Amino acid sequence: MHIPVLLAEVLSGLNLRPGMIIADCTMGGGGHSAAIAEKIGARGRIIAIDRDQRARQYAAGVLDRYPNIEFVRSNFSDLGKALAAKNIQALDGALFDLGVSSFQLDILERGFSWKTDCPLDMRMEAGGLTAAEIVNTYTEKELADLIYVYSGERYSRRIARNICAERRQNSLNSSAQLRKIIMRSASGGYSTRTASLARVFQALRIEVNQELAVIEQALTAAANYLKPDGRLAVISFHSLEDRLVKNTFRGLQKQNVLRIITKKPLTAGAAEIKNNQRARSAKLRLGAKYAG
Ligand SMILES: C[S@@+](CC[C@H](N)C(=O)[O-])C[C@H]1O[C@@H](n2cnc3c(N)ncnc32)[C@H](O)[C@@H]1O
Repeated sequence: MHIPVLLAEVLSGLNLRPGMIIADCTMGGGGHSAAIAEKIGARGRIIAIDRDQRARQYAAGVLDRYPNIEFVRSNFSDLGKALAAKNIQALDGALFDLGVSSFQLDILERGFSWKTDCPLDMRMEAGGLTAAEIVNTYTEKELADLIYVYSGERYSRRIARNICAERRQNSLNSSAQLRKIIMRSASGGYSTRTASLARVFQALRIEVNQELAVIEQALTAAANYLKPDGRLAVISFHSLEDRLVKNTFRGLQKQNVLRIITKKPLTAGAAEIKNNQRARSAKLRLGAKYAG
């Protein structure tokens, strides 16, 4: 089950009131959407976007319970189109809870997890290169660079070299094959090497889904749709994402579009982390649309 992170902070940060129109740009299992629906009541509307068609199925219980949550399968980079399709010109709030959801991690054939043996796919939606295509076709330098840039992994060069050596013998199709190469390439004890594993899998996932490429443009679009004093809430899970969000917020503040509410991002307290490990790395940034 996907437990929504920083839920209380998101709900108060969005300054919700009955009848509001909110875009949940990353619906996932619908945890945040359901809680928002409770606050804005039946007169409010939530446009709940997800690029993954299967989100509809995973959030089915929530979508049945709250008819005012309207699912749109779309990349959030097409926020304008999604809102136009629902005849919405302005928003009271927008939420981005970036990254993958627990249901995606649990679908083994998607190959997101390094913990189980599954095909190296990692796509959140159909189309585009799979992780297997990337590890089998990118040059050694391209692989080393993407691993380093997207995860800061210090053994990136050695890992890329060993991937290329292995694929000359056998093509790489499973997470278990990749896991072996990474465990062999990284140094240190088991936990240091599994940290390398997590980083390399994260880097591949970011590349497969082009996750960072659309963030700045989508946050800017969302901010532009906000009504005066409307709220933008963004949760990120790693430093690259958070830096992008921080810089986008700063840029929007300079242009007098958004007032930054959280000088430092909000993070989860010990009780939430105890209950939900994903909350450990979550950072929430909030902004309010300039009143005019
Ligand atoms: C962390 S989960 C969201 C969980 C949700 N807030 C909840 O409480 O259940 C992130 C979701 O965003 C979706 N997603 C990631 N990037 C996206 C994008 N560019 N456009 C639309 N959806 C995206 C993923 O498919 C995933 O379902």
